[in-house]
Amino acid sequence: APQPCTLVIFGGGGDLTRRKLLPAIYNQALDGELPANFAVLGLAIEAMDDNQYRDFARKGIEEFSRQPLDPAYWKDFGRCLHYLHGSFDNPDVYVQLAQRLTEIEANFSIPGNRVFYLAIPPALIETCVCQLKAAGLVMPVDEHSPFSRIIVEKPIGRDLESARKVNATLSKNFHEQQIYRIDHYLGKETVQNILAMRFGNAIFEPLWNSKHIDHVQITVAEQEGVGTRAGYYDSAGALRDMIQNHILQLLTLIAMEPPWIMNADVIRDHRQDILNCLRPITPENFDHHVVRAQYGPGFHHGEDVPGYRREAGVAQDSITETYIALKLFIDNWRWAGVPFYIRTGKRMPKRASEIAIQFKSVPPILFNANHDQPLEPNVLALSIQPNEGLSLRIATKLPGAKLKIFPVKMDFRYGSTFGEQSPEAYERLLLDVMAGDATLFMRRDAVESSWAWVDNILNVWASSRTRWIPEYAAGTWGPLEADRLIESDNRKWRML
Ligand code: BG6
Repeated sequence: APQPCTLVIFGGGGDLTRRKLLPAIYNQALDGELPANFAVLGLAIEAMDDNQYRDFARKGIEEFSRQPLDPAYWKDFGRCLHYLHGSFDNPDVYVQLAQRLTEIEANFSIPGNRVFYLAIPPALIETCVCQLKAAGLVMPVDEHSPFSRIIVEKPIGRDLESARKVNATLSKNFHEQQIYRIDHYLGKETVQNILAMRFGNAIFEPLWNSKHIDHVQITVAEQEGVGTRAGYYDSAGALRDMIQNHILQLLTLIAMEPPWIMNADVIRDHRQDILNCLRPITPENFDHHVVRAQYGPGFHHGEDVPGYRREAGVAQDSITETYIALKLFIDNWRWAGVPFYIRTGKRMPKRASEIAIQFKSVPPILFNANHDQPLEPNVLALSIQPNEGLSLRIATKLPGAKLKIFPVKMDFRYGSTFGEQSPEAYERLLLDVMAGDATLFMRRDAVESSWAWVDNILNVWASSRTRWIPEYAAGTWGPLEADRLIESDNRKWRML
């Protein structure tokens, strides 16, 4: 269960805090999930006092919360929010932080447990972590001390070398058990359902291997463009932003062996095995495995939208990819020879993320005279968002005098089955940290192996002298090159 604690948010006045963290906390409080003794202390450079911070929080919650703000409840809830302003590199701020924490803990009867959330640009991680330690704010890991835990947001580094540096700084100051590297995809209800679906049913697991599966497709399509985040995104791109973390984690859940217990390290060991088996992409096979592209201008949801290079803050000659398609292989017994096709992009026609398992076709013997027309294969599609659910395509007989086969879908939707809205990823993940459960967080080895694999691709791009990148019109499903990538294997991207 979540333990009483104070949540200290570095970057407490920022966008992530306003859009995600404070609304998550509010919803947990409303649902009665938070520990009774709980408080928040936002820390940031903006000058605000506690009351102004509460107004800031209220606005964020009004705009972004899953459940509407209840003014009567707010009065009570607002009291647990506090604010301290100062610069993260100033040691005096940490002295004040320690004082504020002691006061808050006395007022809210919190036994000294602290969660430090780093919702800050990566360049500041080292400063904050070292200052926390220097100020004596990191407790040792033992049953007698209150806990100190730290949550680190992505990106952790921009390649293997820089990720190792961040991890080394973290490890010098915190024990691995105290470190929670957040990947919000792992907190999504439908993503957690992957394990329930695979291991809670008798009918999938026996078929879950190269003997029966033809290929897997993972799509994470976003409707939005780069928005106001060019400062970060233009030096990152889709590979670093989405594949290195979220999508490789989805892949590990789909591909991992059954764990023998629901325990953080056992599950993470099993996920790690998959990362260890990813076949490296090499300069020799690169063109058959990787396609990148950037959105150009287009007509998107009723308006003309600019191309990526014309977005605010983007370099005019940028070749940052806003789309990437990949083919990859997992070299172990279960997945030998099964291609995984992955694509993710911004400014796609709609927001739609799914994982589709396409089974092998049955032999084309029974249902047509020439024995040449294969039937539509079975597909199990896990829809991650927005229309969360799961569907299975099966062959049935079309009613009528002839024996004609027709594919139909068996469909489960969270919304219609369970009625209520699922909690947001950040809600679940924050509670897990308070409960000390790291199952849904990235361990150091996972972050580094993912970067090691991604670095192979980054290196090929870095070594190419071309300043050219294929374009796709905003509002379309990516470049022709990506269609060729899959069609040259006689397969097709799914229509979403
Ligand atoms: C973030 C990326 O990690 O995930 C963003 O930095 C992306 O670029 C976002 O838009 C997608 O998250 P979600 O939950 O909206 O699918």
